[in-house]
Amino acid sequence: MKFFIDTANLAQIHEAHDLGVLDGVTTNPSLMAKEGITGHDNIVNHYKAICEITDGDVSAEVIATNYNEIIKEGEALAKLHSKIVVKVPMIKDGVKALRYFSSKGIKTNCTLVFSSGQALLAAKAGATYVSPFIGRLDDVSTDGLSLIEDIRLIYDNYGFKTQILAASVRHPMHIVDCAKIGADVITAPLSAITALLKHPLTDNGLAQFLADHAKGAGK
Ligand code: E4P
Repeated sequence: MKFFIDTANLAQIHEAHDLGVLDGVTTNPSLMAKEGITGHDNIVNHYKAICEITDGDVSAEVIATNYNEIIKEGEALAKLHSKIVVKVPMIKDGVKALRYFSSKGIKTNCTLVFSSGQALLAAKAGATYVSPFIGRLDDVSTDGLSLIEDIRLIYDNYGFKTQILAASVRHPMHIVDCAKIGADVITAPLSAITALLKHPLTDNGLAQFLADHAKGAGK
C-alpha cells in the first residue's frame, strides 16, 4: 500500500519524506489556503516545490468546474512537472475531463467521491486514482471503510486499473483498516502516519533495555 501525505505544508512533507515511507502528496484548495498560498504564481511555485521534495505523485486540484476550463487548467498543471496528477472533482464535466486526460496520458485523481457508483464512473472514465473521503462519511454517521470495501469488490470484479486512494483519513486505525481492506493508497495527515509508530509496550520495553544496558555499562 502506498502512503501519501495530505498536506501542502512543506516542512511536514519533508518530515514524512525523511521518514522514508512517503510515496506521494495530495493537496486541495483548502490545504493550500491553510498554508497561505494564494495567487496563480505562488500556487504554481508551491506545487513545483512539493514535486522537488517527494519522489512520487503530487495531486494538484483544478478550480474550474466546466469542461473546457478543467481541460485548460489541468493541462497547465500537468505541464508543471511530470509528478503532477490532475485532481478533478466528481461532477459531470469532471468525468468527461477524466476521459480526456486519460486519452492524453495525463494522470488524474478523481476527488470528492462518496459512493461506489461515483467510483465506478471514475474508473470507467479512466481515472488513475479515485479518492473516497472516508473521514467525511464517518462524520455524517456513515461507514467510510465499507465504501472502500465496496469499491475494492467492484474494481476487482472487472479488473479496473484505477487505484483506490483512501482520503480524508483521520487517524492511524483508518490506515490499518484500509490496509486490511486492500486500498491501494492512503493519504493522511502526518499525525496519523507517525501515530502508527506508537505503542506503550515499545516505549516501556526500550526504556527497560536501555536501563539494563546502563547498569552493565559501568562494570
Ligand atoms: C483528499 O485528497 C483530500 O485532500 C483530503 O483527504 C480531505 O480530507 P479532510 O476531510 O480531512 O479535509
